[in-house]
Amino acid sequence: MSVLETAAMMFTAGQSNRTKPKRLKMQFEGKKGLIIGVANDHSIAWAIAQEILKQGGKCGFTHLPDRADDEKQRNRRRVAKLTDPEDGAEFLLPMDANNDDDIRTIFEHTEKTFGKIDFLLHSIAFADRDDLGRETMHTSRSGFKLAMESSVFSLLAVTAAAEPIMNPGGSVLTMTYYGGEKCVPGYNVMGVCKAALDASMRYLAFDMGARGVRVNALSAGPIRTLAGRAAGVEEMLTMYEHMAPMGRNVTHEEVGKSGAFLLSDASSGISGEILHVDGGYHAMGSPGRLLDEIKKQTK
Ligand SMILES: NC(=O)c1ccc[n+]([C@@H]2O[C@H](COP(=O)([O-])OP(=O)(O)OC[C@H]3O[C@@H](n4cnc5c(N)ncnc54)[C@H](O)[C@@H]3O)[C@@H](O)[C@H]2O)c1
Repeated sequence: MSVLETAAMMFTAGQSNRTKPKRLKMQFEGKKGLIIGVANDHSIAWAIAQEILKQGGKCGFTHLPDRADDEKQRNRRRVAKLTDPEDGAEFLLPMDANNDDDIRTIFEHTEKTFGKIDFLLHSIAFADRDDLGRETMHTSRSGFKLAMESSVFSLLAVTAAAEPIMNPGGSVLTMTYYGGEKCVPGYNVMGVCKAALDASMRYLAFDMGARGVRVNALSAGPIRTLAGRAAGVEEMLTMYEHMAPMGRNVTHEEVGKSGAFLLSDASSGISGEILHVDGGYHAMGSPGRLLDEIKKQTK
């Protein structure tokens, strides 16, 4: 290379350094973990995973198993469309959280791929539509068991499975809703599940604290997703707009960033916590600005 060529190269390198935007802090560089609960691009788990991937993390993903005779394999295809283009997405495997063999297989694969992991996201809930639509007292016995097993026991099961391969300093996160703290009519049996999930999170925070691992819950305001729609999100969106101190609903991205925060070292002193990402709705003790509407209508 001639002296002139070398000088030109040095000049170009200097130029590009000056114009390059400052590199974002990569919170998840060198971190690995498992994301449970992506159904499609609207899923809260995907919003959180996107943040982690953007910040250099490596993720394994699970999807709800498809029926063997379903040629289209829709559950897998919907998630694969999202994960395939991502360099940091290391694997995508089926897992029914109510099946112990599935859980065992997933965590064996996770250990084979990553060795130890630093984060675990549990972002799943399920209740039969009929039960969700009933007054809470009329929840069926079988529906109650199914909702509790899918939405609550699953957190215990995956945390126990992750425990032997979690690095000290690691973090477990579950997704909850305010309907577990207070009665939110319409949320019904899922509210009972979320109360049990919140309590489970606190007990797990104690158990895992002895291993140097944190456990927290993120309580999201209403977000349009598959599960959200089944739990009555549309009505809630309007109510939050009027009642939340911020006067608006939260976005997928906001929930994604806060979820990633709780799974990262940036929250290293936080455990046993419910972080509300709901525009402040949970802080209200009255209908707030909705009162003005009520006054107008009763005039
Ligand atoms: N959308 C909201 O407004 C909102 C608000 C607060 C909390 N949450 C909670 O967030 C979590 C994620 O829900 P979402 O809103 O992203 O909806 P979503 O439908 O995108 O995600 C729910 C996930 O649960 C999975 N799932 C259900 N049963 C399962 C099982 N047996 N095994 C494995 N996976 C199973 C589904 O496959 C799906 O991926 C849920 O716990 C939900 O209650 C949602």
